[in-house]
Amino acid sequence: MSRSAHPAGPRHADVLTEGHYTAPPTDLNVLDEKVWAKTVTRNDEGVATVGGIEVTRLAEEFGTPAYFLDEADFRARCRAWADAFGKDADVFYAGKAFLSRAVVKWLHEEGLNLDVCSGGELTTALEAGMPADRIAFHGNNKSQEEIERAVGAGVGRIVLDSFQEIVRVAHTAQRLGTRQRVQIRVTVGVEAHTHEFIATAHEDQKFGIPLAGGQAAEAVRRALRLDGIELIGIHSHIGSQIFDTSGFEVAAHRVVRLLAQIRDEHGVELPEIDLGGGLGIAYTSDDDPREPHDIAKALGEIVTRECEAAKLRTPRISVEPGRAIVGPTAFTLYEVGTIKPLDGLRTYVSVDGGMSDNIRTALYDAEYSVALVSRTSDAAPMLARVVGKHCESGDIVVKDAFLPADLAPGDLIAVPATGAYCRSMASNYNHVLRPPVVAVRDGEARVIVRRETEEDLLRLDVG
Ligand code: LLP
Repeated sequence: MSRSAHPAGPRHADVLTEGHYTAPPTDLNVLDEKVWAKTVTRNDEGVATVGGIEVTRLAEEFGTPAYFLDEADFRARCRAWADAFGKDADVFYAGKAFLSRAVVKWLHEEGLNLDVCSGGELTTALEAGMPADRIAFHGNNKSQEEIERAVGAGVGRIVLDSFQEIVRVAHTAQRLGTRQRVQIRVTVGVEAHTHEFIATAHEDQKFGIPLAGGQAAEAVRRALRLDGIELIGIHSHIGSQIFDTSGFEVAAHRVVRLLAQIRDEHGVELPEIDLGGGLGIAYTSDDDPREPHDIAKALGEIVTRECEAAKLRTPRISVEPGRAIVGPTAFTLYEVGTIKPLDGLRTYVSVDGGMSDNIRTALYDAEYSVALVSRTSDAAPMLARVVGKHCESGDIVVKDAFLPADLAPGDLIAVPATGAYCRSMASNYNHVLRPPVVAVRDGEARVIVRRETEEDLLRLDVG
């Protein structure tokens, strides 16, 4: 069980929970395989390694802070998701979690599809050779230019998010002499985070078209009348960092009810439903995510059962995991700069990065773990708060963590499970340079996104 509901997602930016921590772990040197990328371990000298390379060597070669991504783990997770869902379903990796040309190549090679949500992500995907028909284009306010590029490139589907967009995409496709495959994103009145979900009649948020009040049914009516688009299915995404499939169950029930209504009204059985992403990962040892196979089985059973009850053919299912694929595969390596014990409170450990490379703690009150990785230590545990170098008191990377009391400037510490929504949400705050992403595999390390330089900053600043 997670220690607390783990708020994530834009709706929760204002929800901060009280700080809390459990007892220190019995051995601070253990790297819990639940939260660390698959090939991470310690060598005989106690130095942590990934893909067979010591973090001390990585720090020397690539500097800190830096994200190190376990390519073998990433590829294995892609295969696990693809195998779990099988031939009768589609897995779209959500590029917003982390996207780069190397990632696109791996996805392509491992047989996954890709969900993009901006022109920038679309360009990265196409540039790196993802076939357009394996790309889904998302977003609640796609520009006309983005729509034209997506339709022109021949993306496999555009997920329509508003009444205006139904018309815009249909007209654009018609003008370009094509028929665009689309899904309509509906809001089903379910919001899920971690173990909890809330089902309400109405959802107060910007995404999708509400089922409530017959709005989604009206959107379908309009979409079916337009020649430029082919409506292939209904899309629903219910939240982030979800461990429990009960929210999906309610969502599937409501989506299938809409499919039945569409059949009754229009004589059409839409062939696809997309249940979105949001599947959770372990950020700390207290989190227990489910395996892709269990999730696929549960979702398949839910949809089949709902369709049988509504006497509908079971549609093809798709899902869009982002965090669950890339999240656990990377860690951020930092060098300790200063250490300030605050008597009776905790010890502040400042590292050479911070909220510019991981905004999730400040934004969502997210929980992370941390470990001393350049050596082992038998010192007693000390309650620490890992903070960054930014001019902001909320610049916290790990709110409550135990680190050995002999921690010293120059030690390397690492925060696991930073593969998702860390580099992709990184900023230049205080003109701090965004760290590189280094892929490590079988004893080889290579930069896949280079470190930002001060020249990069000056190049954008045209004076
Ligand atoms: N599909 C759709 C339509 C989405 O909106 C999202 C995430 C996903 C898939 C992928 O969700 P995932 O499996 O990665 O949880 N920045 C926040 C998360 C925002 C997610 C937005 N949409 C965070 O750092 O937790």
